[in-house]
Amino acid sequence: GAIVGQQPFGGGRHSAYLKGSKEREELLAALEKHGGKTEDIPIVIGSEEIRTDNIHFQVCPFDHQKKIAKFYYANEEVIKKAVKISQEVRQRWERVPLNEKCKIFLKAADLMATKYRMDLNAATMLGQAKTIIQAEIDAAAELIDFFRFNAFFAKELTKYQPLSPKPAETLNTMRYRGIEGFIAAITPFNFTAIAGNLPSAPALMGNVVLWKPSDTAILSNYIVFKAMREAGIPAGVINFIPADGPVFGNTITSCPDLAGINFTGSVATFQHLWKQVGENFSIYKNIPRMIGECGGKNYHLVHPSADPDTVAVATIRSAFEYCGQKCSACSRMYIAQSIWPQVKEKMLKILKDVKVGPPMDFEVFMSAVIDDRAFKRIKGYIDHAGTSTSLTVIAGGSCDNSTGYYVQPTVIETTDPLDRIMKEEIFGPVLTVYAFPDDKADEILQLIADSVPYGLTGSVFSQDEEYAKRATEELKMTAGNFYVNDKSTGSVVGQQPFGGGRISGTNDKAGGPHYILRWTSPQAVKETF
Ligand code: ALA
Repeated sequence: GAIVGQQPFGGGRHSAYLKGSKEREELLAALEKHGGKTEDIPIVIGSEEIRTDNIHFQVCPFDHQKKIAKFYYANEEVIKKAVKISQEVRQRWERVPLNEKCKIFLKAADLMATKYRMDLNAATMLGQAKTIIQAEIDAAAELIDFFRFNAFFAKELTKYQPLSPKPAETLNTMRYRGIEGFIAAITPFNFTAIAGNLPSAPALMGNVVLWKPSDTAILSNYIVFKAMREAGIPAGVINFIPADGPVFGNTITSCPDLAGINFTGSVATFQHLWKQVGENFSIYKNIPRMIGECGGKNYHLVHPSADPDTVAVATIRSAFEYCGQKCSACSRMYIAQSIWPQVKEKMLKILKDVKVGPPMDFEVFMSAVIDDRAFKRIKGYIDHAGTSTSLTVIAGGSCDNSTGYYVQPTVIETTDPLDRIMKEEIFGPVLTVYAFPDDKADEILQLIADSVPYGLTGSVFSQDEEYAKRATEELKMTAGNFYVNDKSTGSVVGQQPFGGGRISGTNDKAGGPHYILRWTSPQAVKETF
């Protein structure tokens, strides 16, 4: 994919989008095109476009009067129709050789990297309120990386064949079949890349998919869907089904053909889906595969030996890029008392200068949060800080939803490392800091390890190698993605396969080779001659 250098505090500094560049002109045109109309987006099942009378709109989070997409919720009958059509298509798709499937997905990646690059960037900026740099690393880099790496891994993986004894009277082989039934992909708003990966990875491996996109990412997700269809993915292999969450969940989990759920979203929703699958267990033709990427309460741990500049920049980027709405975002920092004043000063200085506003201004560092529900939840935590004696707001703290869902980047200091603000996922631009006595650098490891049920991402900052090694060992179970002297966000496909343990998910590592293996049902064949 078009991996770009990540600049700290403003998309405008990304060289590809400097004034006068071709990219900038193309992006501005795409922003005008998508921002100036309300795109009508149908449900797509097989080759049929469906519009129900249950109408919804996607609005710009930073300008909630502006509607960028009109879409329709599928009802139970429509979802069941999708199941039926997908099952008719499944056998034909399963028989297409893997190499052919890879070619189609690689073509989709090429289309998204070229023809649709600016549409994807613009839709991700307007609909999901990403700055240009955040849109580019998502919809133009990670999304394409997922498609290309999955195709590469699929070919590599299927080279593996089991041992055959010699002399060769028997031949043992492995066939990487798809799974009978359908896979439901339930995708989040926060990454166009994840929304694209969840339906495409199972489809690549020979499955058929019912894709329920997030209401707040419909426009960008529909462009991904169109690119896949244009690349040659046959009608009915991936079906695009906006729907009410519970209606979709109830319908798919009560269907005997459900073969798996590929989910990214909240812990509560995933647990609920799992419970429904458990209750209906005896009806399924295949035991459904459950893959979930859920929440986190990610941390930065800072040793007295750390470099203050590195810590300040990394923490602001992790906590506030995309408004802290990455599941990997840092929302709790444990920092040694001796280094905190220096880091604090640097962080406050940077925050004083960052621009918060609409992402069409390419100098903006942070835009609005996704919707009113998120705004109210995040504001609730800031209000809690305002009334608690152990919490002090030292930066930001103001919220305004009059035109867009704006929350200023907020830093809170706490004297209580077990306050609920240090334990609960906020999913917004709120960072809480606990400064610990330097001589408690070992005890703090235990506190970090035990205080939350999550296990997604974490970082240690330390120039003392021995401490960094100790922290890496002691904190092993606290993070599926762990960083030494780097921020807790920004995993790269093929480099840091992503996923967490504990209640953060099933840790199947999107962007790693083993992920696609979860979407196969291999058959071992022994032939005797
Ligand atoms: N994979 C994304 C990151 O690491 C969520 O930030």
